[in-house]
Amino acid sequence: MKELIRLTINGLAREEAVAGQELLIDFLRDRLGLTGTKMGCDGGDCGACTVLVDGRPTLSCLTPAATAAGHEVTTIEGLAQGELDPIQEGFHQKLGSQCGFCTPGMIMAARALLNEYPDPTPAQIRVGLSNNLCRCTGYNTIIESVQYAAAKLKGRGAAGRKAG
Ligand code: FES
Ligand code: FES
Repeated sequence: MKELIRLTINGLAREEAVAGQELLIDFLRDRLGLTGTKMGCDGGDCGACTVLVDGRPTLSCLTPAATAAGHEVTTIEGLAQGELDPIQEGFHQKLGSQCGFCTPGMIMAARALLNEYPDPTPAQIRVGLSNNLCRCTGYNTIIESVQYAAAKLKGRGAAGRKAG
């Protein structure tokens, strides 16, 4: 049996029918075509499926889609607004992505981290991304990618303050 839910996905209000057992990752990927979110372990261990729900990192492989009713879901497709998000740019500039499978989840977790800690230390970045596994990079370039984004966002803030 399906339930009609209202939610916001990547800034767009939607009304969708979801089945009680339908997982958020399947809803996003198979029903809405938002395939940037990746299915890794399918068990809550790897973080590849991370999306933001009301700004909080959420494992979409463990989350029933129906629980997103009334909430705001952001996927990797929703980050770039005309230009790459600074975190996406950081991963590009600092080679934070190799095979790329973990990257969308890593970037979403980094987005939540920077929202809370705009100028994180390397230790804070490691803790913030500790639920996201990467088999390829050794993590150092990922940390540098997030530091790149933090520096860029800080520069924007300073520019904004000057302009204001
Ligand atoms: Fe969700 Fe691994 S696919 S945590
Ligand atoms: Fe391959 Fe992270 S870049 S798993």
